[in-house]
Amino acid sequence: MVVRPALPRDREAVRSIYNDAVATTTATFDTEPRSVAADRAWWSAHRAPYLVLVAVDARGVVGWASLSAWSDRRAYAATAEVSEYVAAGHRGRGVGRALLGRLVGEADRRGFHTLLARIAEGNPASQRLHRAFGFRPVGVMREVGVKFGRRIDVHLLQRLGPRRPAPGRAARRAPGSGRTRSPRGNRPL
Ligand SMILES: CC(C)(COP(=O)(O)OP(=O)(O)OC[C@H]1O[C@@H](n2cnc3c(N)ncnc32)[C@H](O)[C@@H]1OP(=O)(O)O)[C@@H](O)C(=O)NCCC(=O)NCCS
Repeated sequence: MVVRPALPRDREAVRSIYNDAVATTTATFDTEPRSVAADRAWWSAHRAPYLVLVAVDARGVVGWASLSAWSDRRAYAATAEVSEYVAAGHRGRGVGRALLGRLVGEADRRGFHTLLARIAEGNPASQRLHRAFGFRPVGVMREVGVKFGRRIDVHLLQRLGPRRPAPGRAARRAPGSGRTRSPRGNRPL
């Protein structure tokens, strides 16, 4: 299995893995499958400095992970959110670990200072996965979602990057302001 940045040809596999999770898990609070049009917007929002990685084995894409904007308010520029989705038949075999390991490395390299993860209650695999990469609990948002007929808590976890430049310097060097293009740039995925 290899982990690499997603290519346009991976898009349908990524959407299919996601839509299966929409239908069968509380990992995402989407309740309807992601349409082709919504998918197009989602990929546009993941141009550099954001990122989508895929894990690929001999049969194709078995999982993916994304680094997404947390907020479009400028002061949040060095904060991003991580997400991971592994195809149902491939969970528990280290795919998530391979994806998140590469993703946090890329996030550090791109200058993100803070990574956030939202994990719905009852997801021990995701809790273990994130804690293994230095994510620590911030708190629990009680009953913020309703899916499959029940209210669901969401745990917020945070990982601080290894470098902690002074805020003035961080603001000048926010991800997307240097060599890597801004989220509105046209860099291919
Ligand atoms: C959560 C998810 C991404 C983890 O990926 P994965 O490939 O299944 O996990 P890995 O095999 O890499 O294991 C990661 C850690 O979780 C643990 N784990 C895996 N499955 C587990 C389970 N069912 N229960 C408890 N722990 C579990 C592993 O032991 C490992 O921890 P360790 O290294 O301390 O032993 C994957 O299960 C998934 O896609 N689930 C559905 C979507 C989802 O929940 N996404 C996360 C949204 S926050």
